Amino acid sequence: MRILVTGVTGQVGSALATKLAAFGTVVPAARTVLDLTQPQDIGPRLDEISPDVIVNPAAYTAVDRAEDERDLAFVVNAEAPRALAQWAARRRVPLLHFSTDYVYSGHGSVAWKECDETGPLSVYGASKLAGEAAIREAAGQHLIVRTSWVYAPTGSNFLRTIMRLAGEREELRIVADQIGAPTSAAIIADALAAFFASAGGLPSAIERTGGLVHVAAAGSTSWHGFATAIVEGLRARGVPLKVERLLPIGTADYPTKAQRPINSRLDLSKLEQVLGRSTPDWSAGLATVLDDLVASGI
Ligand SMILES: NC(=O)c1ccc[n+]([C@@H]2O[C@H](COP(=O)([O-])OP(=O)(O)OC[C@H]3O[C@@H](n4cnc5c(N)ncnc54)[C@H](OP(=O)(O)O)[C@@H]3O)[C@@H](O)[C@H]2O)c1
Repeated sequence: MRILVTGVTGQVGSALATKLAAFGTVVPAARTVLDLTQPQDIGPRLDEISPDVIVNPAAYTAVDRAEDERDLAFVVNAEAPRALAQWAARRRVPLLHFSTDYVYSGHGSVAWKECDETGPLSVYGASKLAGEAAIREAAGQHLIVRTSWVYAPTGSNFLRTIMRLAGEREELRIVADQIGAPTSAAIIADALAAFFASAGGLPSAIERTGGLVHVAAAGSTSWHGFATAIVEGLRARGVPLKVERLLPIGTADYPTKAQRPINSRLDLSKLEQVLGRSTPDWSAGLATVLDDLVASGI
């Protein structure tokens, strides 16, 4: 089985490329192989590659910059997935695609279910939602995975930013009123691998999810809670840090170009039904990543 994986230089794509190698030949499709700003070229490229499964974690992920680059965000996050999905539907090839908690409005404090109404607050969220719709329209075999607050040992993410700032500054001010589940790319890759490995394989997992599923770490916290756990986790592992105070602040005190949901909690009951188990708690996912970072000298 030839498994085409996009976004292999990114957090999720890189974890998936490693993990899915157990189920076939991974064909890594970085930007140089498949440029998602050129949707018209996607079909012909896929004809050449001829994958049996397409896994698409690649995306335009610069949430604030998207407010100024609307067209580009929609091409990469909606038109390119449309082209992938149309090719996949024609060839009867399953498509695994990734989406985000930012498709929700963030109102209330109850965890969002897959069937809840969406209401993106940002261009990025709207572009990802348009990608979901385009994939559904193509009407092929597909699974859309909505995840949240992704981080990995490498790349540009909240964990890496806090690690750097905690080494440089005595005081950090961190947003404490946005709630979600920090999710390591490894947790996502493990869940996706479990879909491939499940009885009946990927087609059966896709059928049982009905084409849309939340995949995230269990539990929830705020960005402030996550930052505190990162700092405490690093100190507990003997990493010297300069930071002395982590001050909780409100979203209103940290203006950003794009508006983020206050409530990013994702209900995971559908995932738990399909997997037959829950995902690790966000704090356990963090502990694993910190152990790996410290073991590799950071
Ligand atoms: N990060 C989060 O907190 C988060 C939260 C919820 C959902 N998600 C979703 O989860 C998925 C994976 O996110 P991630 O955190 O792994 O993203 P990431 O680390 O930012 O990686 C994005 C990947 O997409 C590739 N890409 C961007 N534009 C491209 C283009 N025009 N053509 C081809 N490839 C392109 C990038 O390649 P280059 O290296 O060449 O730029 C990179 O490999 C995405 O669908 C994202 O929307 C992410």
